[in-house]
Amino acid sequence: MADQFNVLVICGSLRKGSYNAALTRALPGLAPPEIKLVTAPPFETLPLYNADIQEASGFPGAAENLAAAIRAADGVLFVSPEYNWSMPGGLKNAIDWVSRMKDQPFEAKPVAIQSCSQGPLGGGRMQYHWRMSMTFLKAHIFGTPEVFVGNAASKFDKTSLELTDQGTKDAVKAQLAAFAKFITKMKR
Ligand SMILES: Cc1cc2nc3c(=O)[nH]c(=O)nc-3n(C[C@H](O)[C@H](O)[C@H](O)COP(=O)(O)O)c2cc1C
Repeated sequence: MADQFNVLVICGSLRKGSYNAALTRALPGLAPPEIKLVTAPPFETLPLYNADIQEASGFPGAAENLAAAIRAADGVLFVSPEYNWSMPGGLKNAIDWVSRMKDQPFEAKPVAIQSCSQGPLGGGRMQYHWRMSMTFLKAHIFGTPEVFVGNAASKFDKTSLELTDQGTKDAVKAQLAAFAKFITKMKR
């Protein structure tokens, strides 16, 4: 059996009925055997990044926990909505906190992204901003195939929020298979 990779999943939406969270729940059924998905520790308790807090009391526990989970993972998969053409503030804040650590956890880490939005473009504009931040943080950024889930309300069951759209399932499956190959290559 080939190596198995731990892939940490960071969901950018905090709301209960989130389509992005619903997509994360569909991932285990679509991942190849080489990928084991691990849910990231919560980041919503983090204060807004402030260097004064960092200097006075160090990094908050939630930032340390998230950084440790990123370091321990073979790869990181972000699944996030687009807010005002960019990343949600809470997600950006979490990235900002861990980015100030000495052993910056995204450096040389294979990272990939999926996005769900209720608009037709599926969060594509947010993905550009995410790519910019990940470039600055020296992550190994996965390219294609990309996953944009537009008009999300029509792709999930209205009651259970189970992913029902076959095209989306196929796209996610193809991306996860390619991401496993990408991680293998990066580890060589
Ligand atoms: C503050 C805010 C900004 C938004 N901006 C965008 C946007 O720029 N593009 C877009 O396609 N949808 C935008 N939306 C709509 C989201 O696509 C929609 O709320 C989506 O369901 C959020 O993802 P979630 O279901 O995982 O929470 C925005 C929603 C909020 C709350």
